[in-house]
Amino acid sequence: MKAIIASAVALLGTLASALPAHSLVPRAVLELPRLVLYYQTTHDSQSLPISMLPLITEKGIALTHLIVCSFHVNYNGVVHLNDYPPGHPLFYTMWNETLIMKEAGVKVMGMVGGAAAGSFDTVTLDGDVINFEIYYRQLRDAIIYYGLQGMDLDVEQPMSQAGITRLVQRLRADFGPDFVITLAPVASALRGGANLSGFNYKQLETAVGPDIDFYNAQFYNGFGDLGTITDFGRVVSQGWNPRKILAGQITTSSNGAGFIPYDRLNATISALRTMYGQIGGIMGWEYFNSQPGGLAQPWQWAQVMTAILRPNEVPRLTITKAKAEGLIQAWKDSVLGGMVGGADGGNTIAAVKVPELTPNVDYMAMVNA
Ligand SMILES: *[C@@H]1O[C@H](CO)[C@@H](O)[C@H](O)[C@H]1NC(C)=O
Ligand SMILES: *[C@@H]1O[C@H](CO)[C@@H](O)[C@H](O)[C@H]1NC(C)=O
Ligand SMILES: *[C@@H]1O[C@H](CO)[C@@H](O)[C@H](O)[C@H]1NC(C)=O
Repeated sequence: MKAIIASAVALLGTLASALPAHSLVPRAVLELPRLVLYYQTTHDSQSLPISMLPLITEKGIALTHLIVCSFHVNYNGVVHLNDYPPGHPLFYTMWNETLIMKEAGVKVMGMVGGAAAGSFDTVTLDGDVINFEIYYRQLRDAIIYYGLQGMDLDVEQPMSQAGITRLVQRLRADFGPDFVITLAPVASALRGGANLSGFNYKQLETAVGPDIDFYNAQFYNGFGDLGTITDFGRVVSQGWNPRKILAGQITTSSNGAGFIPYDRLNATISALRTMYGQIGGIMGWEYFNSQPGGLAQPWQWAQVMTAILRPNEVPRLTITKAKAEGLIQAWKDSVLGGMVGGADGGNTIAAVKVPELTPNVDYMAMVNA
C-alpha cells in the first residue's frame, strides 16, 4: 500500500511536469440535474484509444460525472478494468485524459461490477472479513492511484444486505464526505419489482442513505421505460426522493432494449421536472457509440442531453500547447503499449506502423491558451 501511494505521488509529479499548471478557473458546479455518462469501451475497432475529451472541448456540453468502467474484482486474482489490469499501457490515454476532465470540473468516478459476475461474490466483496479486506483493498488502491472521485456500485448478481451496506460504509469511511458513492440498480428494483442485486434498495437507503449520493437507475432492458413518466413515477411513489434518482437510458439501441428517441425523452424529462420540481438527472450507457453521432461523433449525445437538461451551464476549459503535447505523447504510448503488451493478441494493433502513429484526435486543435 505504501509503495503504491509512493509511486502514485511520483506519477502525479511526472504528470504535473508533462501537463503543466495553467490558469484554469474552476467552474461553479451546480450539480442538479446531473448529466452522467459511462465510459466503458476504451478502444475502437482498430484498437486505437477513444478520446473522451470531446465531451469537454465540443460546444454545448455540461457533463457532470464520467464513470470509467468496468472494474472487476477477481477471486484469486487482481482487479481488472475490463480485460486488463488498470495500469496496462492500453489505458494511458484514458487515465491521462481523466486528469483533463477533472480540471474541467467533471467528476471522474469508477464503476465496479456490471454484467460480468464475480466482484460481489461470497468469496470477494460479499465475503468474510478476510476475503473482503483482500479484495476491497485492491479496489481502494485503484481509487487512490487513479484519483477517482467516486465509485458506482453496479451489483448485477445476488449480494447480501449486510454486504452492500458494509461496502458503502467502508468507502465512505475511507474516502470522506466528498467522495461520490452511487449505485446502479435496474429501475424496477427501486419499487420492489424485478431485481438483479438480491438485496433490498429501500432497506439500504434506510440504513446508509446519507452515504449514497444518487442512483443511476436503469430504465431500459425491460426494467423500466422512459417513453412516458409512468415508471419514474412508480419509483418516486415508493418514497424515493426524485432528486436522488437518475433517469438512466441507453445511448443507442445497439446497447440494449428500450432506447427512447430524444424528442420523446425530452417530453418525459420535461414533464418529470415540472411534476417534481427537479429530478436527479440523466445517465447514459455508454459513450463510444452514442446516437445521434455514433462511433464518429459520440459526444453529440451529451450535446442533446445538455440541451434537454442544463443548457446554460456549459463549462469552459483551457488547453495549453504543453498539455496538448503531453496528451499526444500519452496517446502514442497507449498504442505502443498495446503492441508491446500484446493486448488483443497483437492482431489488429500490430498493423499500425510505429512512425505513422498519429492520434485520431486532434489535440493541437484543442489548444486555446
Ligand atoms: C430479487 O429477485 C429475486 C428473484 O429473482 C427474489 O427472490 C428476491 O426476493 C428479490 N429481492 C428483492 C429485495 O426484491
Ligand atoms: C423539451 O421539451 C420542452 C417542453 O415541451 C421544450 O420547451 C424544450 O424546448 C424541449 N427541449 C429540447 C431540447 O427539445
Ligand atoms: C499518462 O501517459 C504516460 C505515457 O505517455 C504514462 O507513463 C502515464 O502512466 C499515464 N498516466 C496515467 C495516470 O496512467
